[in-house]
Amino acid sequence: MSALLLRDLAQVVSPAGDGAPLRGARLRELHVVEHAYVICEDGRIVGVGPMSELRPPRDDVREVDGRGRAALPGLVDCHTHACFAGDRAAEFELRAGGAGYEELHAVGGGILSTVRATRAAGADALAAAVARHRGWMRAHGTTTWEAKSGYGLDRETELAQLRAVREAGGVATWLGAHAVPPEFEDADAYLDFALHDVLPEAARIAEAADVFLERGAFDAVQSRRYLEACREAGLELRLHADQFTESGGVGLAVELGARSVDHLESTGPGGVRLLAASDVAAVLLPVAALFLGRPMPPARELVDAGAIVALATDFNPGSAYCESLPVAMSLACTQMGLAPAEALAACTLNAAHVLGRAHRVGRVAPGFAADIVVLDVPDWRYLAYHLGGEHVAVVIEDGEVAWER
Ligand code: NIG
Ligand code: FE
Repeated sequence: MSALLLRDLAQVVSPAGDGAPLRGARLRELHVVEHAYVICEDGRIVGVGPMSELRPPRDDVREVDGRGRAALPGLVDCHTHACFAGDRAAEFELRAGGAGYEELHAVGGGILSTVRATRAAGADALAAAVARHRGWMRAHGTTTWEAKSGYGLDRETELAQLRAVREAGGVATWLGAHAVPPEFEDADAYLDFALHDVLPEAARIAEAADVFLERGAFDAVQSRRYLEACREAGLELRLHADQFTESGGVGLAVELGARSVDHLESTGPGGVRLLAASDVAAVLLPVAALFLGRPMPPARELVDAGAIVALATDFNPGSAYCESLPVAMSLACTQMGLAPAEALAACTLNAAHVLGRAHRVGRVAPGFAADIVVLDVPDWRYLAYHLGGEHVAVVIEDGEVAWER
């Protein structure tokens, strides 16, 4: 039995109401308590309210001083590629000089260069890399995170990636269809192997499957084949789609009942309408759009049309080397027209929904996991407002202080 009391907080903020996901105007409804406390017991939040209503706490409670500070739900990063070895600093320099991301991929660089480094690393080095990246994410307020495989593309490395993510406390997604590795003649031959040799074990470790539906990767027919087999094996479905070209990913996601379709930088009005009428979440990755100099996804249109919108970093070494959800929130507000409150709900409760955890993650409310971020400022909006600022002061996970600046 452990107890933690956050007291004298200038402000506690949480997505309002109950139920998830939040759509349309509900995305911007916040519940804010000024001069507040939060009390946690055994990893759960058991009370939130104004200090005037705080009853004398248990003797053994650990206290965190909240004076001049704001508290909010631990952030949820529902789309990362945090399990990788090596880096792409040289590629970054080439791209700064004008080389294209897809062009580098087509000549065996890009994703395939990270595949080479990840295959060579071995399971222990991968576990160390995930632990390191996990620490970076936590220092930016992320308490729940997903990470994909997709840099192994052979049996041993794909499974090692999934295990490393799970063992570090992440939600594992099998991105078995990320690229076609060079030892296979084409995408179909690679999928024969992946679905026969890797899927059965991957489905025991991962919660979802993901595919990169794009020119130069997997087309709609190949993506359907992969996703249908994964669904059959019990995995939730997610897609990387409409990043560079609108290629039918949204329609496929809706037809197959996917959890989410992610990227959407090239999605037009038809795709927005389809998503709004569906239960498929649109996961927006503004850091990737910025990093590759792409247009931003149609966030405002998606929210206004009533789609389920979530926000994530896409943290990876090639297209989004950034683990900070506060940076993604800043971009959501300055580049995609979202209100700070919408950005917050999109990377807490709605992101938890994408990971199937919104019944216990993403709100500061009784019954929810005691995953809380405390800022060193009295106004939570600094998280998005201060671009690249470092206001995360304390990170609480499962009711324990997991990190302090
Ligand atoms: O979400 N677009 C495909 N996959 C990743 C990038 C992976 C990489 O470049 O290593 C993405 O952007
Ligand atoms: Fe991605």
